[in-house]
Amino acid sequence: MNGKIVVYSPGRANLIGEHTDYNDGFILPFAIKRYVKIEIEPSKKFRVFSEQIKKGIEFNTLEKTNSWADYVIGMIVKLKEHGYDVKPFNMKIDSNLPMGAGLSSSAALEVGAGYAILSMMNYDINREELAKIAHECEVEFVGVRCGIMDQYAVALSKENHALFIDTMTREYKYIPFHLDSARIYLVDSGIKHELGSSEYNKRRKQCELALEAMGKKSFREVTMDDVEKLIEPVLKKRALHVIMENERVLKTLSALETENLQLVGRYLYESHYSLKDNYEVSCEEIDFMIEQFEEYADIYGARIVGAGFGGSVIVLANENFERIFEKVSQKYTTKFGIIPKLLTVETSEGVFRLE
Ligand code: GLA
Repeated sequence: MNGKIVVYSPGRANLIGEHTDYNDGFILPFAIKRYVKIEIEPSKKFRVFSEQIKKGIEFNTLEKTNSWADYVIGMIVKLKEHGYDVKPFNMKIDSNLPMGAGLSSSAALEVGAGYAILSMMNYDINREELAKIAHECEVEFVGVRCGIMDQYAVALSKENHALFIDTMTREYKYIPFHLDSARIYLVDSGIKHELGSSEYNKRRKQCELALEAMGKKSFREVTMDDVEKLIEPVLKKRALHVIMENERVLKTLSALETENLQLVGRYLYESHYSLKDNYEVSCEEIDFMIEQFEEYADIYGARIVGAGFGGSVIVLANENFERIFEKVSQKYTTKFGIIPKLLTVETSEGVFRLE
């Protein structure tokens, strides 16, 4: 239990399968080489310091603070509930993962903090359990009723693979992610998804109401006929998104297997339009960007990623994308006065300790 431990916890993107993870659906996320870096060492008191905002907090009790520190405090609370001993520590947090860009900086912090604490306390780490505890932290302590995607992707991803998860059984498998000439890019729209959590919880509620109205326990039992019978138009659109998006995830798996990138790209665009029109979680700025991208044959597909209402766009394209991005970016800035940022993405391992 001596000395400083350094942990890197990645952000995540999701190729496809959006807003399906709390609906017993399928998802295909992967971790990216952008990290929350956490340094931890034993101390007399609990102290957490953020390098980015140059602010720290010290605490003796494990109460909610309604600040970023809750991701760490919540992890302590949840680890204890799961029977782990947690002694006071000094924790320093740094990050090159943009916040509020829909790349799961919060899950990266939760999973990373948990990994660091367990390492400091000399526990063997079970990644699935860590993901589960981090998810409980987000839902029960922080209070966002998210699905399991972010915490699982951060904890369990493998380099050069996407992580296919059946969120109903929580079974997962690694899908080799070789794109040859193509690349994955992320564009940070510069729109922060502040509306996010209230609208997110609303979408969850609507899905529950849709299930109830269809007389089903799980979206996995829902057929197109059931959806057609829904009377309330909003509930119908939400349900339509969920079952079609699940289908798209499975079709994307087959398209990846045969390396048919045109097809993968088409599913990305379809996913975007369903998120925009049926699930209504996109925004004007990102819709404009996607429309621009559609003009270029070098781009296979693109869509809004994560919870929505801003954040990032995932793009599957060939290497000409950087030039295209310059052009689109200029138009975007002229129209909205915001400069979007391009992140070139490489897949990463899940959370790890620097040896
Ligand atoms: C957020 C949540 C995830 C998932 C996505 C939408 O990132 O944290 O659990 O629901 O939105 O797919």
